[in-house]
Amino acid sequence: MKSGESSDSSGAMGITNGHSKSIFILFLLIFTPKVDSSWWYIGALGARVICDNIPGLVNKQRQLCQKHPDLMQSISDGAKEWIKECQHQFRQQRWNCSTMDRDHTVFGRVILRSSQEAAFVYAISSAGVVYAITRACSQGELKICSCDSHKRGLGSDNNGEFEWGGCSDNINFGIKFAKAFVDAREKMVKDARALMNLHNNRCGRMAVKRFMKLKCKCHGVSGSCSLRTCWLAMSDFRLTGDYLHKKYNNAIEVTMNQDGTGFMVADKDFKGSTKNELVYVESSPDYCIKDSKTGTLGTDGRECNKFSRGLDGCEVMCCGRGYDTMPVKRVTSCDCKFKWCCSVECKVCEDVVDVHICKPSMRPEQKLSRRPGQISARLTQ
Ligand SMILES: *[C@@H]1O[C@H](CO)[C@@H](O)[C@H](O)[C@H]1NC(C)=O
Repeated sequence: MKSGESSDSSGAMGITNGHSKSIFILFLLIFTPKVDSSWWYIGALGARVICDNIPGLVNKQRQLCQKHPDLMQSISDGAKEWIKECQHQFRQQRWNCSTMDRDHTVFGRVILRSSQEAAFVYAISSAGVVYAITRACSQGELKICSCDSHKRGLGSDNNGEFEWGGCSDNINFGIKFAKAFVDAREKMVKDARALMNLHNNRCGRMAVKRFMKLKCKCHGVSGSCSLRTCWLAMSDFRLTGDYLHKKYNNAIEVTMNQDGTGFMVADKDFKGSTKNELVYVESSPDYCIKDSKTGTLGTDGRECNKFSRGLDGCEVMCCGRGYDTMPVKRVTSCDCKFKWCCSVECKVCEDVVDVHICKPSMRPEQKLSRRPGQISARLTQ
């Protein structure tokens, strides 16, 4: 029972301070169905982080939250970013990382399945925590951490020696805290899903570290660069997103070994290591049709690309249901002219482009009522 932890401390205590904010959260708690809450929900709560009232935190997470409210604010801000990155990476796929409003599970029931998509979400969410905390450390927003103090004195790279200077991102602190906070829930159960989550969480954390870059400033006579000061900095989170999406495409199917302590790769011919790969246990649904049992939204009404044969193409995106074409007005700036001196003047142009939209799937009752008709038509031939 994974969500058992979350239900204990949300009693009436929260409203004794009289803040309307906590009352609001209490409303959310009472009127939102509890499926399998997660710390991901912190992102939706934003500045209203009140540790006792966040659903989905296990005890260890709640303790960390109480001890480090400033870190929770960073995690909350970070959640919006990694969710946006997830939606960017999946914008051309049937499952598009959409979130459910006011739902503690954030992504709905879809993620309950131990699929490739779940593997990605766990990886990018823990990468997002590393990124957000490390950045906040460097910006001096947190009491507990600052720039990496080990990066002092002389260092060297391919171009020779340099002096450590400036503020190196303290990624090791980010990783340590993310591990303690994000993995806390998975440490409470020992099943295939918990193992899968722990593995993918780790992949996510390491992905951020992979894109650390040395940045340098030149000093010396007329910029001769005889003297350099350098610092280690994280790259744009997009690189982590791209990397993890590639890992998602090549994710490896695994099964739990007999004593329940680790994984076996399902494909017996697999050679190599799963260490830096995302792993999953269950195959994915096709995500074609809205299904409240599995939490899939279906692709009704999704825009598709008529000219693509890939995942975003109408054939694949609409699951063979076909698409409707609608003219849509788009406003652009056009006929831009350079005016002496010095501005550019543009006209506002409206043009009409065709947008292709997946047809809705037939509802079950329509299917049923149509079938007898088809049969009788055939009988009369
Ligand atoms: C994702 O797809 C759903 C329908 O399947 C749509 O309602 C939603 O707007 C899409 N979200 C994004 C972020 O594109």
